[in-house]
Amino acid sequence: MSEATVADLGPLHDYVEYDHASDNFLADVLEGLRKPQKELPSKYFYDERGSQLFDRICELPEYYPTRTEMALLRHISADVAELVGDGATVIEFGSGSSTKIRILLDALDAPRAYVPVDISREHLLASAKELADDYPDLQVIPVCADYTQPFDVPVIEGEKVRAGFFPGSTIGNFSRDAAVSFLRAAASDVGHNNGLLIGVDLKKDVDILHAAYNDAAGVTAAFNLNLLERINRELDGTFDTGAFTHDARWVPDPGRIEMHLVSERDQTAEVGGESFSFAAGESIYTEDSHKYDIAGFQALAAEAGWRAIEHWTDPDELFSIHLLRVV
Ligand code: AVI
Repeated sequence: MSEATVADLGPLHDYVEYDHASDNFLADVLEGLRKPQKELPSKYFYDERGSQLFDRICELPEYYPTRTEMALLRHISADVAELVGDGATVIEFGSGSSTKIRILLDALDAPRAYVPVDISREHLLASAKELADDYPDLQVIPVCADYTQPFDVPVIEGEKVRAGFFPGSTIGNFSRDAAVSFLRAAASDVGHNNGLLIGVDLKKDVDILHAAYNDAAGVTAAFNLNLLERINRELDGTFDTGAFTHDARWVPDPGRIEMHLVSERDQTAEVGGESFSFAAGESIYTEDSHKYDIAGFQALAAEAGWRAIEHWTDPDELFSIHLLRVV
């Protein structure tokens, strides 16, 4: 770990940066493309263009999770505040633009500190500074890190409780094992008897899911294809991105949307001096988005050392928010 010096912290109290915050894009791409079922890690969707496309996805009429979770969060925020208690330090895993946290901060009783954790340094610092300006009584301590790797939560003077915050159903993008590992690590980050507020997308009518991941405007397709464009841009790849098609399919067991990029014809592409061939119809597997039912998610959380305290859903039962406590 390296504690970074930032020339102008502005309203921020401190800033911590971890070495593992830099990824090995090339090595991960090569490893994925060498597998019999070719795959690319979905974390690489989020370069600048990919993040912009994801923001557009969140506004699509078919993509219900973002607006449903925000409305639900507003609806339950007073209950959550009561259950969490006063003087909390809130740690957000993958804080992005730090938008949803504002709903929680507005409801909490005298929150003590906010620790946004994100891998994207510039975005993290800009969002953290904006938030610190808007909440002058709150200590804002950004941590630039891959939140799936170990990191230390800064010690906050006068902190009474800690609460983790992991909205957006990002947990759904983890394999079951990775979800359990993340939840275990989050339990040790917040510590015994402290809580985690987590958004989890629910299993539902397949047509609703299919529409959400195959939107009519083609934004999700562009988001998926951007991964190949990013490889071309950053790794001198030679993908003919017009010769791959977005495909998002519902897989009932275990209950997830799988995203793929399907090769339209026999073709080859080079990355890092290595050549990869694709048969017509062959796919590159790019993302899992697991959907849970309430009991299924609570069982997963229990495996990782969490007790379910409360859960809420919207009236249409599209999305759930869970409050968990470390056993
Ligand atoms: C970030 N994550 C929760 C999104 C999801 O729904 O799994 C990513 C996404 N992929 C396609 N559309 C949105």
